[in-house]
Amino acid sequence: MRMVDIIERKRDGLELSKAAIKFCIDGYVSGKIPDYQMSSLLMAIYFKGMTDEESTHLTEAILRSGDIIDLSAIEGIKVDKHSTGGVGDKTTLVLGPLVASCGAKVAKLSGRGLGHTGGTIDKLESIEGFQTTLTNHAFMEQVNTINIAVAGQTASLAPADKLLYALRDVTGTVPSIPLIASSIMSKKLASGADVIVLDVKIGDGAFMKTLEDARTLGRLMVNIGANFGKKVIAFITDMSEPLGMAIGNKLEVLEAIRTLQGNGPDDLNKLCIEIGSYLVHHAGITETLNAARKLLEEKISSLEASAKFKEMVEAQGGIMPQLNDYIHNETLIAVKSEKSGYVSKLNALDIGLSAMRLGAGRETKDDTIDMDVGIVLNKKVADTVEQGEVLAYIYNNKKDITEEIKTILNAFTITDSFVEKPSLIIEVIE
Ligand code: URA
Repeated sequence: MRMVDIIERKRDGLELSKAAIKFCIDGYVSGKIPDYQMSSLLMAIYFKGMTDEESTHLTEAILRSGDIIDLSAIEGIKVDKHSTGGVGDKTTLVLGPLVASCGAKVAKLSGRGLGHTGGTIDKLESIEGFQTTLTNHAFMEQVNTINIAVAGQTASLAPADKLLYALRDVTGTVPSIPLIASSIMSKKLASGADVIVLDVKIGDGAFMKTLEDARTLGRLMVNIGANFGKKVIAFITDMSEPLGMAIGNKLEVLEAIRTLQGNGPDDLNKLCIEIGSYLVHHAGITETLNAARKLLEEKISSLEASAKFKEMVEAQGGIMPQLNDYIHNETLIAVKSEKSGYVSKLNALDIGLSAMRLGAGRETKDDTIDMDVGIVLNKKVADTVEQGEVLAYIYNNKKDITEEIKTILNAFTITDSFVEKPSLIIEVIE
């Protein structure tokens, strides 16, 4: 087989065989196929696409490039959830302990943040002492005893994905649906769960900008999962404004704890109950989705869900954060509205990038994060606002943030006429 023939085939819009796809991935990982040929193939895929079958083969080749986690030592149905990335998306921090408190087994491997989107592992590391590197044995033991463990993805999980993603990042080939689907699904399938809910975000702060693309991506990932015998459900949810009110690592952990105690923002709470209901129901814990919703709500009001979070934190060596840690920063700055009206738009991307520049995220993968900084919104889309009222608070450790104040102010569009609250959950694909 020759790489140039495979590139030409895809360039001409023809289908690639399983063997050809495996040849490319194995050859690239072993260093036999150079970057320039792989870049060329990625660009051909970007323009010509892939069939569902090719995408499944690509997923399998990436998945088999490294370790496949065997979770059979954990009793019961293992559930997992993945978000395509957003601003203020602390869903895993809430959902994990919440469904674990219902009896579902959560063996979760998570990643770090890059650019305007945050990562669960960074957020958890804002908790003093919290260990995100666990041995396989400790990970399984913890899930067997308390139903949940969250650890960082190791380099041996789908290593081809890391190499391909780095190349896609510098060749303009990240936004290709088959490439995104195989990247996400290879890691999810290698992580070993039986039931997987995917949260496909759509809007300014997300990879997918249109409903049509989000649907295509969701359907493709559900099909790939089915081809591997897994139950995969895709949610399509709005990310035109940030999720919840807090953006920034420690701030998001505190918001997650509040949500687990029943005092969280409505949108975050709703998303966790809805995704959670699918996980709990498909884990065989309840007969219906409605019964699962009820159970999840009970676990929040009885404080069993927040107790599960504390159990997880302590099992992983952390010290449970105190909620009064929230307002500890003397350099807290209020961004105030210059006019009265309704918030008609709140640009998630601008808010995410601003939080990143404040130090809450990484511009490049080697940047260090300031766990304490970020933004807490005081207004969201459809809220009314008076001139001089606070739109957002900035938690800052830098001296001059004049530009960020301007950016955050401009991220809000205020209009005179009434605005409907946007719907958060747009579609569920099974
Ligand atoms: N998230 C991933 O893991 N991979 C992609 O390609 C895009 C989003």
